[in-house]
Amino acid sequence: MKELENNTEISELNVVVKKYGNLSSEEYQTISAFSEKEFGNVPIVQKYKWAKPDWVVIKYTKNKLVSFCNLVEREIRIDQKTYFVAGINNMITLEKYRGSGYAAEVLNKCEHFILQFMSFDYGVLLCADSLVPFYEKHGWYSVDCPVYFQQPSGRELWKARTMLLGKDKQIAPKEIDLNGLPW
Ligand SMILES: CC(C)(COP(=O)(O)OP(=O)(O)OC[C@H]1O[C@@H](n2cnc3c(N)ncnc32)[C@H](O)[C@@H]1OP(=O)(O)O)[C@@H](O)C(=O)NCCC(=O)NCCS
Repeated sequence: MKELENNTEISELNVVVKKYGNLSSEEYQTISAFSEKEFGNVPIVQKYKWAKPDWVVIKYTKNKLVSFCNLVEREIRIDQKTYFVAGINNMITLEKYRGSGYAAEVLNKCEHFILQFMSFDYGVLLCADSLVPFYEKHGWYSVDCPVYFQQPSGRELWKARTMLLGKDKQIAPKEIDLNGLPW
């Protein structure tokens, strides 16, 4: 038990939340390069202008950055009411480190940071249908309503999946407006 507690603590210490603007140039380059590699050629990513992250949640192992995701802070509208949320994007584990639970650790840290530490109302993520089971395992749930966001050309409707993470029981909104660029 003692050993398990120690491992957990070490693991916790190796997942950190950093301000996007405070990343070292090495971290910034790694994150940018892997984001470009994973999503740079995805048509929907190329099609839209995306929000700049405010935070990055990073898992290190042996001082190497192995998994991360970005967080965007935003006041959004859900059924005409304003909520303070953190949007997650670019959840990536470097290829050779996949399947070791590193993304799970990053998502656990995100949950704590979003709901406990920052006391946001919700976490919000926009993703492809294929990732839904992966996020469901970490407490996220899908919503089935129109989700709008801004582009320089005007208001657009999000066509893929939207998932929420909340403290209390699941909600089933009728309309969400991201109130800015998507993430
Ligand atoms: C998705 C991803 C972040 C998972 O990272 P990881 O560190 O390997 O994740 P974990 O080890 O914590 O969990 C692995 C689980 O994710 C599942 N998974 C990985 N990629 C998946 C995908 N594209 N669709 C559905 N499930 C996926 C695995 O099947 C595995 O499930 P299991 O726990 O039931 O065996 C990683 O595969 C990745 O970087 N993929 C490319 C980028 C991407 O698609 N990111 C998601 C953007 S929304």
